[in-house]
Amino acid sequence: MNSPESAQVDTQSHATALGYMISAGVWMVIGTFAGITAGIELIAPDLLGNIAWLVFGRLRAMHTTIVMFGFAVTMLIGAAFYIVPRLVRVPLFSEKLGMASLFVWNGSLLAGVVALSLGYTQSREYAEMFYPSDIGVVVAFVLMLWNLIVTVMRRKEPVLYVSVWYFVGGLMLSAATYIIGNCMWAGWKGAIFGMPDAVIHWFYGHNVLGLLMTPLAVAAAYYVIPRAAKAPLYSHTLSQIGFWSILIMYTHIGTHHLLQAPAPTWLKLISVVDSIAMTIPVATVLVNLWMTAQGRIGKLTQNPAARFVFVGTIMYLVVCIQGPFQSLPIVQRITHFTHWIPAHAHLAVVGFVGMIGWGTCYFILPEMTGRPIHSKRLANLHYWLMFMGVVSMMVVLTISGLIQGHAWYHGEGVYRVLPSTFLYNVMRVMAGAMIVVSSWIGLYNLLRSIPQAGGARASAGEVAS
Ligand code: HEM
Ligand code: HEM
Repeated sequence: MNSPESAQVDTQSHATALGYMISAGVWMVIGTFAGITAGIELIAPDLLGNIAWLVFGRLRAMHTTIVMFGFAVTMLIGAAFYIVPRLVRVPLFSEKLGMASLFVWNGSLLAGVVALSLGYTQSREYAEMFYPSDIGVVVAFVLMLWNLIVTVMRRKEPVLYVSVWYFVGGLMLSAATYIIGNCMWAGWKGAIFGMPDAVIHWFYGHNVLGLLMTPLAVAAAYYVIPRAAKAPLYSHTLSQIGFWSILIMYTHIGTHHLLQAPAPTWLKLISVVDSIAMTIPVATVLVNLWMTAQGRIGKLTQNPAARFVFVGTIMYLVVCIQGPFQSLPIVQRITHFTHWIPAHAHLAVVGFVGMIGWGTCYFILPEMTGRPIHSKRLANLHYWLMFMGVVSMMVVLTISGLIQGHAWYHGEGVYRVLPSTFLYNVMRVMAGAMIVVSSWIGLYNLLRSIPQAGGARASAGEVAS
């Protein structure tokens, strides 16, 4: 379990953790801008004419690559570089190695996104970046893991808290599945052929969500909630069951993205059964975290950082009720390919992973810098805009998805249904605008919270305020 000890000022520079978190803030600003531009194009397809790098197909891939890898994953890797050394009670093995990994990671993403804007894509969702970027991403994962694993090996704390398991395990598995899923042995093509390619692709695509983003977000929540609630973790056993069961279940469910495709039936069956069995790891994590916070939820939600994280766990529950439901073939016959799926996707990646990412950032910043965050009021505004934005986007897209699904099911063509979804696309952009503005506020507040070199540090009491 994680230690509930109160925040303490330390003397490390934390350049790597801060570097990753600032990068994530910048990527979110760029990525959400790409998202809102893509959303506007769905209302006014001719608005930007035929500017090649701004056509929807390129913009969509740029948006998903930036927000998922650049923002959500990067923010939580930043958290890992602070939290893991802290939990094992030694400094990070090497800040220089950490900065090198950050440089390779950001450089690979930047090159990949620029290439996407120029039309160089491997055309497989979440694996779109070209070959040189894939190599860079794997090198960056190896550098991160080298740094974190040596840190853990030098530990002074005999107990390996659950956050350490999730952070290191998630990165280790992702380094492996990135190579497999991007078919890196196939070189520039980055794919094999036919249905086997689709199966490998969605094995990987789902692992980005389930073995990279989810463990990193859960690791961060396991750190923040006990500390914010000032209570020991409810159960160490539950946390172990959650860790091992997620590994068993998540690796088998990628084919639930292919229920409408000619994938082998036995594989579809396994994916549906394990999608439902996912309720086990999800329930163990949520019961454990919420029982830890029991009786202290009011206190927890007064702190904007802890509120971000706590509400992120509620989003996780909703996402994981939706997920098994939409894995049922009878439901997917209606929902597949409709706006229902981006509704689930945004609730998951913005509401669950993104909100836990920002909350953790706000929570650990004072511990790292030795002074309170720049503005609690701005953090509250950031929270409300992101929360309202993602919830309204989810509601709007779910309704629009059901309209599409039912119309298509009853034989209407895609073109004839477009007028019925127009208004919902407008509302999606309005909801998205809240998330865009929240990203500016988050980045500003983060940058202003970092003291100038040599700036005075506050006392531990001030930190906790
Ligand atoms: C950090 C914030 C965001 C994250 C993590 C995020 C993530 C994603 C993901 C994972 C997808 C793929 C969904 C799928 O294929 O089912 C997606 C698609 C999309 N997102 Fe976002 N998004 C964010 C913010 C926004 C914002 C602010 C807008 C503005 C309206 C937006 C508009 C879109 C659009 C238009 C698509 C394409 C949907 C389609 O093809 O039907 N996103 N986003
Ligand atoms: C119990 C857990 C979950 C289950 C069973 C589940 C199930 C599904 C299914 C069946 C789809 C595809 C639907 C279709 O294409 O018709 C899907 C899509 C998606 N899910 Fe989940 N989900 C779960 C949790 C999560 C979590 C935790 C995340 C994020 C961290 C997430 C992110 C996404 C995204 C981004 C997509 C869109 C993929 C695309 O572009 O097509 N899901 N989910």
